[in-house]
Amino acid sequence: MSGSAKRSITISLDGTNKSSTLPLMDGTIGPAVADIRRLYGDLGIFTYDPGYGATAACESKITYIDGDEGVLLYRGYPIEQLAEHSTFIEVAYLLMNGELPKPTELKEFEFGVLRHTMLHEQIRQFYNGFRRDAHPMAVMCGVVGALSAFYHDSLDINNPESRRISAFRLIAKMPTIAAWAHKYNIGQPFMYPRNDLGYAENFLYMFNAVPAEPFKVNPILARAMDLIMILHADHEQNASTSTVRLAGSTGANPFACIAAGIASLWGPAHGGANEAVLKMLAEIGHVRNIPEFLSEVKDKGSHTKLMGFGHRVYKNYDPRAKIIQKACHEVLGELGIKGDPLLDLALELEKIALNDKYFVDRKLYPNVDFYSGIILKAMGFPTSMFTALFAVSRTVGWISQWSEMIEDPEQRIGRPRQIYTGAAQRDYVTPGRRG
Ligand code: ACO
Repeated sequence: MSGSAKRSITISLDGTNKSSTLPLMDGTIGPAVADIRRLYGDLGIFTYDPGYGATAACESKITYIDGDEGVLLYRGYPIEQLAEHSTFIEVAYLLMNGELPKPTELKEFEFGVLRHTMLHEQIRQFYNGFRRDAHPMAVMCGVVGALSAFYHDSLDINNPESRRISAFRLIAKMPTIAAWAHKYNIGQPFMYPRNDLGYAENFLYMFNAVPAEPFKVNPILARAMDLIMILHADHEQNASTSTVRLAGSTGANPFACIAAGIASLWGPAHGGANEAVLKMLAEIGHVRNIPEFLSEVKDKGSHTKLMGFGHRVYKNYDPRAKIIQKACHEVLGELGIKGDPLLDLALELEKIALNDKYFVDRKLYPNVDFYSGIILKAMGFPTSMFTALFAVSRTVGWISQWSEMIEDPEQRIGRPRQIYTGAAQRDYVTPGRRG
């Protein structure tokens, strides 16, 4: 454990002479963390933190977020620099291995990923079991979970080589699985991957091409896709990553763990927000309806949220939102889309919300999902694909975090405690005596 035990906090239990001295752990950056593991032994009490807003569940060297300053670092490198200079495949190497690759290492890594892009031919049959209108995330939960039934040779989680191959398989096959989910929806033939194309390019190829004619991927769209993938690659201990870690803590195989992560990502409070943003913009329909919509959002009884706004950690602008907002303008410009009504509506909504006391007081700013849907729509993706694309990009983060967890000697099965507020122990009452 990297935390030093030089500082500590002492907690005393009112009405007793008992106390517990808890060591403080210091990370490289960020707030210190109190190691509460001895608290129950010393004082017989647990801690209560629904939603884990104040709980560090693991030690990690992968991603750092400073929510007050709007900072996001992958292995120490600012997201802005990676977005400008790097590629998704290089970021994948960085997240998995901790350092930026030398040119030969990058080539080898890319080759390792690309040679696993095909799916076992039997998996094609799987798709036929779904309804044609199946949501791509439903297909992805099922197909990714099923991978564990096909790749028995890489299921030994205690073997580093097995873990490496499983990671390659997952990163490589996700674009194929997602593209095929779309092809199945629209009734077009599945396109096999092309390993001569880059990662994002290959995805766009499988998504758009048909066997009947040649297809050239638009380089502007390939670069935008690559950028979106970089921005979504990891985000420390968010809900889906924590789900992957929790599933993995039981010793479950990596394919099952990533399927669990996909399920967790799907919800509208997390990765499903990008799809929800577009639905919301469509519902608002026009700039003149914004005030009425915001009144509804502020009415607690309505349960309506301004989708794409707010974040558990960012209490300042989400740095990914800034990058994607700029990319959004560039892509729309390069595609010759002028005055996109959805973008105009989003910009106006953002402007009004950022000056509204409700949002200012609660430090609610646009998150990455506020703009990702608009750019993805302009790139020709149906809304139902948005979260699936997020899952493709996040797989590298999930698998990096999963590997880190497996290698961490401190990790134990994830098993939270509770404060029980149900009935106290009582005796069974026979049916005739129940009042
Ligand atoms: N619209 C309206 N009010 C909001 C919103 C929102 N989008 N987000 C938070 N609030 C309000 C809450 O109602 C609460 O108000 P209160 O103090 O009067 O009760 C206050 O702001 C604090 O919010 P919490 O719910 O405590 O914040 P939490 O950290 O639990 O939730 C979350 C964060 C889930 C992201 C929330 O902001 C949200 O639902 N946003 C919309 C969905 C979204 O965009 N999700 C994507 C997140 S980014 C990602 O996963 C990639």
